[in-house]
Amino acid sequence: MSDIHERVARHYGQAGIAEAILAALAAAGKDIDRLTPDDLAPIDEFHTRGRAATVDLANMLALESAHRVLDVGSGIGGPSRYLAHSYACTVVGLDLTPEFCTVARVLAERTGLGHRVSYRQGNALDMPFEDESFDVVWSQNAAMNIAERDRLYREMRRVLRGGGRLAINDVTVGEGGPPHYPVPWAREASTSFLLSAEVTRRRLEAAGFQVIVWEDTSAPALEFARRRAAAGPVPLGIHVFMGADWPAMTANTLRNLAEDRIRSLHAVLERT
Ligand SMILES: C[S@@+](CC[C@H](N)C(=O)[O-])C[C@H]1O[C@@H](n2cnc3c(N)ncnc32)[C@H](O)[C@@H]1O
Repeated sequence: MSDIHERVARHYGQAGIAEAILAALAAAGKDIDRLTPDDLAPIDEFHTRGRAATVDLANMLALESAHRVLDVGSGIGGPSRYLAHSYACTVVGLDLTPEFCTVARVLAERTGLGHRVSYRQGNALDMPFEDESFDVVWSQNAAMNIAERDRLYREMRRVLRGGGRLAINDVTVGEGGPPHYPVPWAREASTSFLLSAEVTRRRLEAAGFQVIVWEDTSAPALEFARRRAAAGPVPLGIHVFMGADWPAMTANTLRNLAEDRIRSLHAVLERT
């Protein structure tokens, strides 16, 4: 792994995440041998607006059970399990962080979805998949850690079949100045690579995608961040595995959105 990729993986991964998550779920009264994607949603949807963003993006795709979906930067697997459970499709998750892949597998088994989802540790810039092997490529809040966007989008296009769809949620840079750190995807600026929505769109089009849906979701993202701040500490949440500076990360997300330092993007594109 390159130095940047090692630092990104260290930002996310620590030993003992699976144990910490299962203990938090048990303490919250969940049956940890028979979990549902809904039980896990507060803890495993690691992106702006959580489960609601996943539902909105999935609604744009007309997913079918025969579809093979690739989730790029799949994290601990919440979105992949939601898609497999809701649409009976097959989902392969690819993630840089080894500990996240391990947790994703544990949670897939405990939700009874091990036959529909699988996880590979690897780099989105060099995907271990054949050309045109997926019907849908999906990625939520992962590109912010990836500097080489042209290469990322080329790889996404390569593994997608002709006419297939790319569905993304991304954080883009606003006009209010550089973000305050730490943020959920980076503790400092050296592993954060935000582009504006306009530049993101141009890069995607240049890589061979045509825009179907392109929506700025900063207003609902800000609303979500405000509600989360008002609710205060909750027993189940990303803090269970992201460490003691999670409250600072979420406070900065709220401030960055409010000051237009970051924006939130929801998009669906077609491979041309
Ligand atoms: C904020 S998390 C989002 C996880 C998941 N998409 C979700 O929404 O729940 C970002 C994820 O992207 C992964 N990631 C970052 N850079 C990557 C790369 N170059 N290749 C593969 N995964 C990457 C990280 O390991 C992390 O799991």
